[in-house]
Amino acid sequence: MNLFPDHLDHYITINSENEPALLQQLSRETHQKILQPRMLSGHYQGRVLSMISKLVTPKYILEIGTYTGYSALCLAEGLQKDGELHTIDTNEELVDFQRRYFNESNFGNQIHQHLGNALELIPQLKPNFDIVFIDADKENYSNYFHLIIDRLKAGGIILSDNVLWSGKVLEPLKKDDVSTNAIIAYNKLLKNDDRVETVMLPIRDGLTISRKK
Ligand SMILES: C[S@@+](CC[C@H](N)C(=O)[O-])C[C@H]1O[C@@H](n2cnc3c(N)ncnc32)[C@H](O)[C@@H]1O
Repeated sequence: MNLFPDHLDHYITINSENEPALLQQLSRETHQKILQPRMLSGHYQGRVLSMISKLVTPKYILEIGTYTGYSALCLAEGLQKDGELHTIDTNEELVDFQRRYFNESNFGNQIHQHLGNALELIPQLKPNFDIVFIDADKENYSNYFHLIIDRLKAGGIILSDNVLWSGKVLEPLKKDDVSTNAIIAYNKLLKNDDRVETVMLPIRDGLTISRKK
């Protein structure tokens, strides 16, 4: 979901950095061949992720939810020369697609794909992270937070996508709507946890930045 009307959204996008050619190609192929292409971060949010990463200059990035690799490539743009981005996804069918684009970028050797459930794989990863991007199953956002908070360096940031969940966070709550309930609980968790300071940004479907104190 985009929060702004189309013409305002367009204005914001064309007055931001251009989308790199490789990402245009990745986006096009995702829309042609892969189910649910709206999951891809896209031009504007991708440039925001790239900018945040360049400001942080991370050594280690963790991404939960690779999909076709768009946001991984955006975040990798800020990596230090010897930095690493670890990205996790359960979908085996996307692994070759992702690798093809990672190899065409300047960051092929720095991006490490992990296939499986992030809840099981995160404890097996060695580094402590400077940036964690959470963009997978909404029901587990709070579980991801608890898993990674002690693995986040002081001053490191968590980026959480879809925190407005198409505006459903403001609608009357249905008990059986597991995802919306989970996102609302997660937003409260970030606001109230003393270990982080948090700002919610009205970007696309809502993107929260939480900085570890
Ligand atoms: C919204 S998409 C990620 C989009 C991507 N970050 C981007 O911006 O281009 C969510 C992805 O999370 C993956 N996923 C869902 N549950 C997962 C889990 N428990 N562990 C790892 N990945 C998961 C899905 O397979 C899907 O590819």
